[in-house]
Amino acid sequence: MPQSTRRDFLKTVTTASAAALALSATGCATDSVPPRTKGKSVVGLRAPKLDTVRFGIIGLGERGGPTLRQMLVLEGVRVTALCDNYRPALYAGLAVVEKAGAPRPADFGNGDEDFRRLVARDDVDAVMICTPWRWHVPMAVAAMRAGKHAFIEVPAAVTLEDCWQLVEVAEETQRHCMMMENCCYGRDELMLLRMCREGLFGELLHGEGAYLHDLRAQMKGISAGQGEGLWRIPEHLGRDGNLYPTHGLGPVAQYLSINRGDRFDRLVSFSSPAAGLVDYAAKNLPADHPRRGMKFACGDLNTSIVKTARGRTILVQHDTSNATPYSRLNTIRGTRGNFVGYPSRIYLEGRSAKPDQWDTDLASYYAEFDHPLWKKVADAAAKLPPGSAGGHGGMDFVMRWRIVQCLREGLPLDQDVYDAAAWSAVGPLSEQSVAQGGAPIVVPDFTRGAWETTAPLGVVS
Ligand SMILES: NC(=O)c1ccc[n+]([C@@H]2O[C@H](COP(=O)([O-])OP(=O)(O)OC[C@H]3O[C@@H](n4cnc5c(N)ncnc54)[C@H](O)[C@@H]3O)[C@@H](O)[C@H]2O)c1
Repeated sequence: MPQSTRRDFLKTVTTASAAALALSATGCATDSVPPRTKGKSVVGLRAPKLDTVRFGIIGLGERGGPTLRQMLVLEGVRVTALCDNYRPALYAGLAVVEKAGAPRPADFGNGDEDFRRLVARDDVDAVMICTPWRWHVPMAVAAMRAGKHAFIEVPAAVTLEDCWQLVEVAEETQRHCMMMENCCYGRDELMLLRMCREGLFGELLHGEGAYLHDLRAQMKGISAGQGEGLWRIPEHLGRDGNLYPTHGLGPVAQYLSINRGDRFDRLVSFSSPAAGLVDYAAKNLPADHPRRGMKFACGDLNTSIVKTARGRTILVQHDTSNATPYSRLNTIRGTRGNFVGYPSRIYLEGRSAKPDQWDTDLASYYAEFDHPLWKKVADAAAKLPPGSAGGHGGMDFVMRWRIVQCLREGLPLDQDVYDAAAWSAVGPLSEQSVAQGGAPIVVPDFTRGAWETTAPLGVVS
C-alpha cells in the first residue's frame, strides 16, 4: 500500500474505531437494550374525561406562584392542594387563593418529603410540579404511582436514567406525564407548526433552538426564598453540557415531528470555556461572598448538533452566564423557505416581497397563518380579569388552557412522556459528548419504535 493511502486508511480506521468506542461506551447500550417495562405504550393516551380538574401544585416560587394565579382563573379547574417546603412561599400561595375568593386548599409544608401526602389525596386529579430540577422525577413518579397525572416544569429530568424512569412509570400507571414546555405555545411557534404542517417551507431540513438568557444575577441568590439562584447556579459546578435544552428544542422538535415520524438519532456537543460567572462575581459580589472564587465546570456556551433518523439536523445552544440579549433562535429551514427568530423574519420562495430578502413585517403571515388555538385562546384570555392571562407573551396561558381542555375532554396531550424524555435527554447526552471531546452519542429511542407509526402532531383547535 502506498504510504499516503496507508496513512489515510489508518486514519479512517482509528477515527471509526474511536467513534464506535464512544458510541458503545455511552448511548448504544441504553439504545440497543431498552429497559424492562411493566406497562403498554402511552402514545396517544386518552384518560377518562374530568368535568372539573382538581390540581395540586408543588413548588410555589417564581414559576409556581404565577402558575397558581392562572389556574385559579381557568374554567373547570379547582386548586385543592398546595405544597412548598419553604413556609413563606406556601403562605403566599394560600394568600393568593384567599384573595381570589376560591376555597382554601389543603397545605403541605412539613419538609422535603411532604409532597407525598399531597399526591395521596383523593381530591387531587393532577399535580403540577414547579420545583427545582432534581425534585421533578421523584415528585412525578410519586404522583403517577398515586394515580395522578403529572405535569412537570422544564427540563423534566437531568439524567438518562430518570428520563427512562418517567417513561416506565407512565406506561406502568397509564397516567399522563407531560413536561410543560410552554415555548411550544408561543404565537410564532404555533404559527410555524401550522406552516410546517401545510408544507410552506417545503421539505424540512434543519432547525435551531437555544436558551440564551443572561441569568448572571442569580449568582447573588444563596438563601432560601431567593429563587432559582439558590439551586440553578450549583448545577454549573459539576456538569458541563446543555443544562436547559427544552425551551428552544421543544418547538423545533414539534416542527420536525420528532417521536411522530422522525426521532433524535445521535448528537455531538462542545462547550466554550467557563468565564462569565467568574467575571460577574469579580465585578458584582462582595469579597467575602461564598460564590467569589468558585470554579465552574460548565462551559458558558454549549453548542450541540442533533442528527435525526431521517437525516435532518438540529442545532441547540445554551448560555445563561454572559451578557446577551434573550434568544431561543427558533429557526426552521426547508427547501422552499426559512424562518429565523429573534428578531422574527421569514423568507418564502414566491411569496416574500423581494427575492433573497427577509420579510420582517409578519402582519400578513399572522393574519393568514395564526394557529387556531392561538386565536381561540387569545379571545378567551381577553375576557379574563386584567393581568391574569399574561406570562411570556401569552404562551403560558395558552398552554395551561390547552392542558385543561385535554383533561376535560379526554384528549391526548400535545406533548407526551416520550417528548419529555427525548427533549430532556439532550442535557445529559450533551454532557457525555462534551466529556468525550465531542464524540457522537446515540440518543435512546424512548418510544421503542412507535415513532415510526405515530402520526405527526396536527393543527389542533
Ligand atoms: N417554563 C418556564 O418558562 C419556566 C420559567 C421559570 C422556571 N421554570 C422551571 O420551574 C421550576 C421552578 O423554578 P422557579 O424559578 O420557580 O424556582 P424557585 O426556586 O423560585 O421555586 C421553587 C420552589 O420549590 C420549592 N421546593 C423546593 N424543594 C421542594 C420540596 N422538596 N417540596 C416542596 N417544595 C419544594 C422551593 O421552596 C421554592 O419555593 C424549575 O424547574 C424551572 O426550570 C420554568
